[in-house]
Amino acid sequence: MRSRIIKLGLLVLLLVLLAVSIWLVGEGRATMFIESGVIVSAPIPSPTPEESWLILPPMPADATEADIGAEIYRLVCRDCHGDRGQGLTDEFRATWNPKDQNCWQSKCHAPVLLPEGFILPHYIPAIIGPNTLARFEGAVDLQKYIRENMPWHDPGSLTSEEYWLLTAFILRENELDPNISPD
Ligand code: HEC
Repeated sequence: MRSRIIKLGLLVLLLVLLAVSIWLVGEGRATMFIESGVIVSAPIPSPTPEESWLILPPMPADATEADIGAEIYRLVCRDCHGDRGQGLTDEFRATWNPKDQNCWQSKCHAPVLLPEGFILPHYIPAIIGPNTLARFEGAVDLQKYIRENMPWHDPGSLTSEEYWLLTAFILRENELDPNISPD
């Protein structure tokens, strides 16, 4: 009797695990592959939305594109790329709440994921400062890259306009010409 209950329990557990895996893959959160021995997930780009989901603080009337971009950076990009665009450095992680500092152990970013979790890459590059962004030819190229690839865990989830505002901010911080326009 007891062994039948155990078998039934195992079967139910397996079915639940299967359902969760199918759901994760469907959600685009669980397409994992091994890269240089490190498990990384490959986010599936969402189509660029027309409506924004961001709630930005009130901005002064004379705020520039780069000023608004700075707020979007703070809300969406900063946790990964650092408060000064320095990348995910040990020094930046040390500013976090101690229990969150080892991001790879938490339930959010380790291989055992909560529904809203994702696997955090171990290396996140600097995007502000000397010798960063050298591979981009200009604003159009940079906007296209971030629109198609960022934020890393949910690419394409901002509006095209928001990617332009972010581009203006990143260019300004790198002392490159911020006078860009979408056309
Ligand atoms: C979950 C962490 C994460 C978040 C959030 C994130 N990024 Fe990234 N970003 C990465 C990783 C990892 C790479 C490196 C990807 C690669 O090389 O394939 C990267 C690369 C980049 C690069 C290219 C840098 C280079 O020189 O190659 C830019 C630019 C960039 N991110 C901008 C942004 C912007 C703007 C946002 C906010 C919309 C953002 N990222 C949000 C993790 C993140």
